[in-house]
Amino acid sequence: MTSKHHSYQDLPSDVIQDRLPRHVAVIMDGNGRWAKQRGMPRIMGHRRGVDALKDLLRCCRDWGVEALTAYAFSTENWGRPTEEVDFLMMLFERILRRELREMMEENVQIRFIGNLEALPSSLQVEIDRAVETTKHNTGIQFSVATNYGGRQELVQVCRAIAAEVQAGKANLEDIDEAMFERHLYTNGICDPDLLIRTSGEMRISNFLLWQLAYSEIYVTETLWPDFDRAEFHRALCGYQARDRRFGKVKAV
Ligand code: FPP
Repeated sequence: MTSKHHSYQDLPSDVIQDRLPRHVAVIMDGNGRWAKQRGMPRIMGHRRGVDALKDLLRCCRDWGVEALTAYAFSTENWGRPTEEVDFLMMLFERILRRELREMMEENVQIRFIGNLEALPSSLQVEIDRAVETTKHNTGIQFSVATNYGGRQELVQVCRAIAAEVQAGKANLEDIDEAMFERHLYTNGICDPDLLIRTSGEMRISNFLLWQLAYSEIYVTETLWPDFDRAEFHRALCGYQARDRRFGKVKAV
């Protein structure tokens, strides 16, 4: 996240500024395949994946996207070989240590969403430090979904609301969408307008189940480490060509 890349700052002329997505979510798929195609170990794909994510974060900031949410590790990813899981945990920790200063310089507000208590305690320490240090930053809101599962998030919301009702702090009739949203990990961040998934799979894979209700979905065959600003530009053009109706009829 160095500031030497300022040549990207300008929004491409065919992207309409006031129709940009406010919030972009990404499922970064294909790191393993990218590495395999090059005869490298899978972890090399994850390393390159981090570079692609940093680049996208900077590009979103330069072009005026308010929030970026990336799916870094799902509740199902624990089922991967131990060496890969350990590597990813170590990678997350290292990124946080290494990038905190630049996130401050670039005014990034980072947060983590997911069941963080199950993560290694040394990683939790770095997460707390990064979240705490950047919490007053006013630039792009960058959320990293780690040990995140959409169903788990919804169950967690139900439990929190049930506990409020049980304690007499809320009535059944008070439960509405706004109350539900206040208990989501993403409280305070608008729902994603655009979900990008790389490497061709047409699935949501338990990501942001509530929040993606009306998001436009853009799938590209490109593997995540190759997802660059030209790809993001294509995704934005694809998004702007859509007619978002939110269940209503087309405006005339
Ligand atoms: C999936 O590729 C990708 C991941 C498991 C995400 C790895 C995490 C990062 C790139 C960034 C983390 C960033 C921060 C800020 C902590 P895959 O292994 O599923 O690829 P495959 O489908 O080809 O096997």
